[in-house]
Amino acid sequence: MKTALSVLGRRTAAPPISWLMKTALARPQLISLAAGFTDNATLPTAISRRLLDQILRSPRTGRPALQYGTTAGERHLRELTAAHLQKLDGGHDRAHAPERTIITGGSQQFLYMTLEALCDEGDIVLVEDPTYFVFLSILQSRGIQARGVKLERDGLDLAHLETVLERLKKTGAIRRVKALYLVTYFQNPTGATTTLAKKRAVLQLLKRYERAAGHPLYLLEDAAYRELAFGRDAAPPTALTLPGGRDCVIYAGTYSKPFATGVRVGFGILPEPLYTAVLRIKGNHDFGTANLLQHLLARALATGAYDRHVAGIRKNYARKARVMQRALAEHFPANVEIWEPGGGLYFWARLPKAISAGMKSKVFQAALENDVLYVPGELCYAEDGWRRRPANEMRLSFGHASAANIRAGIARLGQVLKQFVR
Ligand SMILES: Cc1ncc(COP(=O)(O)O)c(C=O)c1O
Repeated sequence: MKTALSVLGRRTAAPPISWLMKTALARPQLISLAAGFTDNATLPTAISRRLLDQILRSPRTGRPALQYGTTAGERHLRELTAAHLQKLDGGHDRAHAPERTIITGGSQQFLYMTLEALCDEGDIVLVEDPTYFVFLSILQSRGIQARGVKLERDGLDLAHLETVLERLKKTGAIRRVKALYLVTYFQNPTGATTTLAKKRAVLQLLKRYERAAGHPLYLLEDAAYRELAFGRDAAPPTALTLPGGRDCVIYAGTYSKPFATGVRVGFGILPEPLYTAVLRIKGNHDFGTANLLQHLLARALATGAYDRHVAGIRKNYARKARVMQRALAEHFPANVEIWEPGGGLYFWARLPKAISAGMKSKVFQAALENDVLYVPGELCYAEDGWRRRPANEMRLSFGHASAANIRAGIARLGQVLKQFVR
């Protein structure tokens, strides 16, 4: 008998990360530097309990929180979100209107719905090379083509972006290009942060090719790790604040990494007509994100509990990043290039080009045998004809593992690498 599955159901590949997670669960002695999880030790149990208690103590505040809400999300949370972003952007107003904000089930849902609203099968989205692998999985599942643009430590390689756009214009494929997706703060997987100057240049380049495309070319800015900066200085402002940003930037934000991954509330800001389209699609998905969780976050933001919590976790991640940095300096061969982040959850390690660290490589197998797991960098590269997928890189996360396990895990990995890298 034929399958009853839809084209999408048949086409959607198993997420590469599920195998890694299964492996980690099956081997309790294994140290995982692979998971993108936040630190269990700093999840806000006491704060959440106190705030939920305040909400549920009286029917006046409790009942609205236990009722369905609106599709766009709680008005109060959207206003607080706009004010919060304004503060992160150094007081810049206008860019963050609550009327263009939608609260979603994590920023993941927002990314998915944005692609639903924007792309048909066969359309093209430009991505950083490498990029967030779950985003690549959405593209694969929906039959959208990904084109990689080289990434440098301060953001996209602008000359390469221009080459890619020019090539697409020459072949006429530019008409299928809908957006450029950038993870602009402490990027997953490399830890790179895009400078404001590069965001400006990217917007100008996209603008130049809009005529050839015949429609707007959007910049989809994913700011998932924005609030996890180690230093006191805020990370650079978003592209929304740049001239023209309001009309062509789609901003994906989240409260999941800075507050609690289990609460899983994210948000997006979009220009029209995309905002209305995404709102209608969200109406079909779930007609509104869990209201109780939105009330919890609104109260955390309004009372200052959120800001205090974020200040604490930033220190914690900065400390764990230092632990990883020292362990890497001690145990990794000197010719492994390390990208050290200024925030977020990840280091990026680049082995000499000839050495593979991919899923099927000897390095990966030896790491597993020594009970340490990392994310092979090759999973973060789009299937794209202009180059072979590089396989000599690793994403190393210090988010979930304890300081002791970070030290032990990097020491084990260093031992493994010394067998292969000379
Ligand atoms: C770059 C990036 N964007 C978005 C997400 C989705 O996060 P959430 O749905 O929890 O907001 C993640 C999660 O790891 C991520 O790494």
